[in-house]
Amino acid sequence: MNFAARIDKAITQAVTRGQAQPSPARLASALHYTVHPGGARIRPTILMSVAAACGDRTPALTDAAAAALELIHCASLVHDDLPCFDDADTRRGKPTVHRAFGEPLAVLTGDSLIIMAFDVLARSADHDPLQAARLIRILSDRTGMPNGICAGQGWESEEEVDLRAYHRAKTGALFMAATQMGALASGEEAEPWEELGARIGEAFQVADDLRDALYDEGTLGKPVGQDDLHGRPNAVTEFGVDGAIAHMREILTGAIASIPKCPGEAMLAKLVRAQAEVLTPIKWRAQQQMTPGE
Ligand code: IPE
Ligand code: IPE
Ligand code: MG
Ligand code: MG
Repeated sequence: MNFAARIDKAITQAVTRGQAQPSPARLASALHYTVHPGGARIRPTILMSVAAACGDRTPALTDAAAAALELIHCASLVHDDLPCFDDADTRRGKPTVHRAFGEPLAVLTGDSLIIMAFDVLARSADHDPLQAARLIRILSDRTGMPNGICAGQGWESEEEVDLRAYHRAKTGALFMAATQMGALASGEEAEPWEELGARIGEAFQVADDLRDALYDEGTLGKPVGQDDLHGRPNAVTEFGVDGAIAHMREILTGAIASIPKCPGEAMLAKLVRAQAEVLTPIKWRAQQQMTPGE
């Protein structure tokens, strides 16, 4: 089974458990609406790639980790779109969850998916209790306070923003979770994989700033121009478009250099190089001469 099919199957299994009878029907459909068909699923794909590079010794643990990570990501987007945060009407080309189901159910959808993520990991203890506990620790750290996405969103309510801490927590945290959980699921230490996740996350944030500034809502499937609208510091205002693209590719070159020694090192380097292409806005792709890592 390819990565996408494994990720989809593991998420579907978890959500189906959450929809068992007797469950409130509208909340049950909101869960499905949120995770299917989903977005790019980049975080669980990175997680599975790292696990594969390390030998994917316990595939059931890898599947659980990938599903848990994507469930947290989806939950964070549902909450992020709420009127009390970004007040967004569209996500992934369709109405946001609160637009489709109302605010109370959107809050509960996010809550349910967060709890579901940790339930998936707790169940994976059947395969390896110690690694499952470690996976729970990493995902908690990358989700809550002081370093996780809750902290990232929390920075938006501060007068003075520590930009590095803000981006590292808001976007970087789940990419660090991706590389570290992939390694852990394969029985490796998590710590050496933090830098790779942090660098991919940093590059992804720059790419997201570029998309926000350059694309339209129809193409992205979500509102654009948000950084300007909310006066958020971002890479395009800081470096300009060409500068931001160069900065992103530089970060990814560093990401390749940081890949720990493992059997699939070359495959991971290739994946990061491919990401550099995907993350470069379409019009700018042909103009870029440099390929990270070359
Ligand atoms: C959007 O993440 C939120 C950010 C951290 C920028 P993605 O761009 O990965 O969203 P989906 O899951 O593909 O929709
Ligand atoms: C969302 O960040 C990241 C989360 C931690 C939920 P943004 O608000 O910048 O991302 P989009 O533009 O809504 O996807
Ligand atoms: Mg936001
Ligand atoms: Mg938002």
